[in-house]
Amino acid sequence: MEKSAVLTTKLFAITISILSFVNTALAFDGGSTDPKPQPTLCDELILPAGYPCSEYVVQTKDGFLLGLQRVSSSSSARIKNGRERGPPVLLLHGLFMAGDAWFLNTPEQSLGFILADHGFDVWVGNVRGTRWSHGHISLSEKNKNFWDWSWQELALYDLAEMINYINSVTNSKLFVVGHSQGTIISFAAFTQPEIVEKVEAAALLSPISYLDHVSAPLVQRMVKMHLDQMIVTMGVHQLNFKSEWGASLLVSLCDTRLSCSDMLSSITGKNCCFNESRVAYYLEQEPHPSSSKNLNHLFQMIRKGTFSKYDYGKLKNLIEYGNFKPPKFDLSRIPKSLPLWMAYGGNDALADITDFQHTLKELPSTPEVVYLENYGHVDFILSLQAKQDLYDPIISFFKSMGKFSSI
Ligand SMILES: *[C@@H]1O[C@H](CO)[C@@H](O)[C@H](O)[C@H]1NC(C)=O
Repeated sequence: MEKSAVLTTKLFAITISILSFVNTALAFDGGSTDPKPQPTLCDELILPAGYPCSEYVVQTKDGFLLGLQRVSSSSSARIKNGRERGPPVLLLHGLFMAGDAWFLNTPEQSLGFILADHGFDVWVGNVRGTRWSHGHISLSEKNKNFWDWSWQELALYDLAEMINYINSVTNSKLFVVGHSQGTIISFAAFTQPEIVEKVEAAALLSPISYLDHVSAPLVQRMVKMHLDQMIVTMGVHQLNFKSEWGASLLVSLCDTRLSCSDMLSSITGKNCCFNESRVAYYLEQEPHPSSSKNLNHLFQMIRKGTFSKYDYGKLKNLIEYGNFKPPKFDLSRIPKSLPLWMAYGGNDALADITDFQHTLKELPSTPEVVYLENYGHVDFILSLQAKQDLYDPIISFFKSMGKFSSI
């Protein structure tokens, strides 16, 4: 088939699946909802592994209620002695993931547990829209305004508030670890002096600020067919690939040239090192919802090669920002004094090497950099060798800041 014919067929299939979703959603709207008591992340993954864990709720300036978990060492000796907790570290998950991302493998393999074992005061971030966040003070998830945000708000509201909160509870600057979208929001937030002044150092896995060299075939296909704009135009505001609609949307994107069987690789690049027999377990947690506007903002970055605020189009930009163009997040404003550690992968189809080098060039500081030739995008949180490859080096890096005198 001609390329354009293929595209038309795809567009048609996708339109149908979106329309049927909208119908279903409308049919269910207005029915009474009885909110079931949700299990918490502490209950599901952390307490069962034998680690003390408590739940916190943080309210953002725009009214979202975020779930934060605080995890400490499973060694009862340390707690019994009533010794001080170590320095706080905040974990920031990637797109379509949530705080569970850091606890998906065994305690010996997962960063959240490993940091706790080393005496860190581990705080687990969950951005708005994920299953571990707690909605909004006034908006229902069925209201389209609930989903009217992108990573810009995740950086300037969610991350800002998490950092403020942890800083005020612990009375200490904090370490930050981010993966993927967690690094986008870190870079954006670190350009803001009132946020970055509370950060001791950061370790960024699959760091992303620029996205114009994304090589993932399925992502390129979605960008080319302007799937993000279609979805928004058709009135779908929440992206949930766990829903029947979301799953069938993904399937409708595959064909003979782009096999569905290796969907993960066609989105994230070839991952070397995670445990294939654990995928069903991972999928009990993943993927988490995000907003269509967030996808739209990310695709704007891919199309234009910018690291800027959301582009509403000239007129609305003028109203929102006082300029026809959305303002840039200027990486050169990240203080040179902020210690940064970064790791990137040779098979990462989302955090491309060219884009990563672009990021490095604009940073005033010279971060410590680890390159892992075999790593794809997901290996950074799931690799069975991540402890040796990444987590031990991160812990050494954090400990080299000299905040561990009490442990
Ligand atoms: C891989 O996952 C399976 C299923 O959860 C588990 O039984 C096995 O121990 C895991 N392998 C490693 C090396 O962690």
